[in-house]
Amino acid sequence: MQKYEKWTSERAIEIIAQHQDQKGATLPILHALQEVFGCVPLEAEPLIAEALNITRAEVHGCVTFYHDYRREPPGRRVLKICLAESCQAAGVRSLEKRAKEKLGVEMGGTTADARVTLEPVYCLGLCHSSPAAMLDKDVYAGLDEERLDELLKEAQA
Ligand code: FES
Repeated sequence: MQKYEKWTSERAIEIIAQHQDQKGATLPILHALQEVFGCVPLEAEPLIAEALNITRAEVHGCVTFYHDYRREPPGRRVLKICLAESCQAAGVRSLEKRAKEKLGVEMGGTTADARVTLEPVYCLGLCHSSPAAMLDKDVYAGLDEERLDELLKEAQA
């Protein structure tokens, strides 16, 4: 569980300035913004573009290319289910369906009580024990319906 700061452009400019001289600064800036605000709001794009002297389209391309960046802060807990090949071969799609039904959200959605955000992830490096998922920063492998239900219960607690 992580608390995020409320978005302000002043704070964003400060964060951008801390990373803008780095080589390939776009991704470190996006990561830093998401770490602090829980997301990369649209308003961040022109600030990054100006600081790095690149186009807003380039920044937008980066934000939308990577699945990890969000536009809105997440719920209190973030449950990521791995949808990459090995986990798919191990039947993760039925677990994904179950998680969506039980939480009442689609992938990328947050429950109405703002407790859980459900997101896809593409390989957690646990392919040998697929299917895998991650709740906040903890990873879980060898999931089945029972273990998924436990995870959902923990996420909603
Ligand atoms: S494909 Fe899911 S952990 Fe690698």
